[in-house]
Amino acid sequence: MTTNVLVLHGPNLNLLGSREPEVYGRFTLTDINNRLSEQAQARGTAVQFMQSNHEGALIDAIHEARGWADGILINPGAFTHYSYALRDALASVALPAVEVHLSNIHAREEFRHKSVLAAVCMGQISGFGWRSYTLGLDALIDKIQEKRA
Ligand code: DQA
Repeated sequence: MTTNVLVLHGPNLNLLGSREPEVYGRFTLTDINNRLSEQAQARGTAVQFMQSNHEGALIDAIHEARGWADGILINPGAFTHYSYALRDALASVALPAVEVHLSNIHAREEFRHKSVLAAVCMGQISGFGWRSYTLGLDALIDKIQEKRA
């Protein structure tokens, strides 16, 4: 049975590779997605990727995921810190979700310390660069597949 995962990237993550590389690394979003695709394939998982700079588009994607996805891997970008609408969307669809961040949000400016989404996610992985995504995907697939077994 295939596992289906939606990978959501929030605002400004389309600029990865050139955006503040000392903070976010030199991998582009395509590099990260390619790694996740390989990892997913090896684990019998189909992934769909979506990046948007618009809160409403991310919310729509979360709603649509209800119809096909078993879980959501999300880097909400700056929406992490203030989007109650994204939080409500995740809570509404009740799919297992993992929040990931390239940087360690707890070691940065104070406004980044708080995530308004973390409480509606299974967990948060922060500070491992692109590896936050691969660690997050593994954890999400483990949880989904464990529940089925
Ligand atoms: C980020 C951390 C956020 O604070 C920031 O606004 C981002 C990226 C990260 O992956 O480290 O856009 O989510």
